Amino acid sequence: MLDRVKTLRKEFDDELSTTKELRLIEELRVKYLGRKAGLANELVKMIKDVPDEQKSNFGKEANILKVYIETVLDEHKKRLEESRRDSEKAFFDITLPGVKPLLGSFHPIELVRREIEDIFLRLGYSIAEGPEAETDWNNFEALNMPPHHPARDMQDTFYLENGSVLRTHTSPVQIRTMLSKKPPIRIICPGRTFRCDWDITHTPNFYQVEGLMIDVGVSLADMKGTIDYFCRQLFSTEIITRLRPSYFPFVEPGAEVDIQCQICKGKGCRTCKNAGWLEIMGAGMVHVNVLENVGIDSEIYTGFAFGMGMDRIAMLKFGIEDTRANYEGNLRFIEQFRGLE
Ligand code: PHE
Repeated sequence: MLDRVKTLRKEFDDELSTTKELRLIEELRVKYLGRKAGLANELVKMIKDVPDEQKSNFGKEANILKVYIETVLDEHKKRLEESRRDSEKAFFDITLPGVKPLLGSFHPIELVRREIEDIFLRLGYSIAEGPEAETDWNNFEALNMPPHHPARDMQDTFYLENGSVLRTHTSPVQIRTMLSKKPPIRIICPGRTFRCDWDITHTPNFYQVEGLMIDVGVSLADMKGTIDYFCRQLFSTEIITRLRPSYFPFVEPGAEVDIQCQICKGKGCRTCKNAGWLEIMGAGMVHVNVLENVGIDSEIYTGFAFGMGMDRIAMLKFGIEDTRANYEGNLRFIEQFRGLE
């Protein structure tokens, strides 16, 4: 009878050693420990046939076997579960879509700034910068706009408590440059500017780039040639420009520069509001009063200046309909300019 206990243990050990699946462990458990047909139960039933003097010994051995089977099955099950977890960790599914790295993109106004700077650097200009909070003199007075001059109304200004102004254009950088350097001067001044405006083409914070050229014998023809070259570089070699007389206190004569609408070729369409032309900048010959204000002899030197809103150039170049999108920080807007650098 005790032999049966031994063979049963051997059978169990053999079977377990070939069992590699969790599901089969459960089958083994039923086979050996199941209430009804379990093999261990078979031993219990055998007790009645065991001679009395061997009964207690046999019972003890049978019980030891039962506990043995239970513990070994539990341990084996645990081991299989652990190794399954390990292999799940190591498994790499090459068919899963990859995690895309988040790529940055330049802001459209930054793209425009870089391109404009490149064009003028090629023409021998250098880049000048100045503070965003300016003196009234640099921003207005030196530019031929004395206090209470009606031309100041053209630029709705933010005044600071200490009497300075948030610069309404980057022209004060031209004043600073002319005060600190002797002609010849060839600079562009890109930078942030401020006006009290808010609609689809204006925001209180915007960006301008202005240019200044001062030398002996600089004429309106030089201005037109420079602006034409610039527009052809920036937009297309086929671009047509025109100068439309206009008034700015710091230039004389002064003009607005228009480019022919690229979409309708001058016929008139939605983009150019049926004008056939798009206004892109102001320009003119530096006013004698401005030259005198900064101590440049206007009998010897002449010069031209121009200024444009980079926000507006970005709108034209990229077809941005509402300039306020430039300032909303919406990633889906910015991402459209990826790869344009
Ligand atoms: N400073 C002018 C503006 O902001 C632009 C400009 C510059 C016009 C130079 C003419 C000449 O409106």
